[in-house]
Amino acid sequence: MPDHILSTQQFLDPQRLEELFGAADQLADANRLGTVEQSLIGKVVACIFYEPSTRTRLSFESAVLKLGGQVISTESAGHFSSAVKGETLEDTIRIISGYADAIVLRHPDSGAAQRAATVADVPIINAGDGDGEHPTQALLDLYTIRQELGRTDQLHIAMVGDLRYGRTVHSLLYLLSLSANIRISLISPEFLRLPQQYRDFLVARSVPTVEHQQLESVISDVDVLYMTRVQKERFSGPDAYEKVKDAFVLDQALLEQLPAQAVVMHPLPRITEITAAVDADQRAAYFRQARNGLPVRMALLQQLFG
Ligand code: NCD
Repeated sequence: MPDHILSTQQFLDPQRLEELFGAADQLADANRLGTVEQSLIGKVVACIFYEPSTRTRLSFESAVLKLGGQVISTESAGHFSSAVKGETLEDTIRIISGYADAIVLRHPDSGAAQRAATVADVPIINAGDGDGEHPTQALLDLYTIRQELGRTDQLHIAMVGDLRYGRTVHSLLYLLSLSANIRISLISPEFLRLPQQYRDFLVARSVPTVEHQQLESVISDVDVLYMTRVQKERFSGPDAYEKVKDAFVLDQALLEQLPAQAVVMHPLPRITEITAAVDADQRAAYFRQARNGLPVRMALLQQLFG
């Protein structure tokens, strides 16, 4: 069976993570120096996106090209692939398996990457499956924490906003369960609480987790403030979205309560949940975080084809 990347539950191994992050460090350096080893020559990677994307698709495509491989892609697969004609995801994946050496897939349905993996004979990389997971984002998030704070343990991390539909949160929580002496604060409106399956996982792994309704209750005590966008596209109608869309907004006044050594992260895109005035603060790490998508995805591809 090919080496699919479907969930961060496949990465719950400290040594595997350290190898990945070490490779990402080296690739970031090599990229700066223009000395990246061309380990993907002759490989074709298909990027099949049924949902919008800026960072994930372009950083994957750039990662493939930097490693000497080539890309075929469809950025609105729901409109421009045979899905329009009624072809199933399974059939589409079977076909693309014959044209590409790996498939990076984003799809609105939770479990879509898993379904694709059951019929693909090349690796499937889950680039976001509905409100399920987004494993490569979580890997670059953890890499960013390691880079910004110099550690991934002894942490108090607050995850704020849409914990229900936010797939990056789900994938990151799995990874954080590996960290020693970690405390997690979950801050969301009632409607956007973290689903039970992730709560159960944290309990099973004995990760101390506390829920709050106010950001003010924890902000002065966190090391990582992980903000998220309310996932409008997952709501059934505009009313429910309107009620919660501005539940948590990090502005300059609130930022004053954040410890000097802490960092603010966000998978992006941000809408209203972080005001533009926050960007100039040294602790705002989200643009550095987005940049880390390139070396981390290069490292994943290198390992996949290594
Ligand atoms: C995230 C996603 O698609 O889940 N974006 C990303 O890949 N960086 C977060 C989001 O869309 O809010």
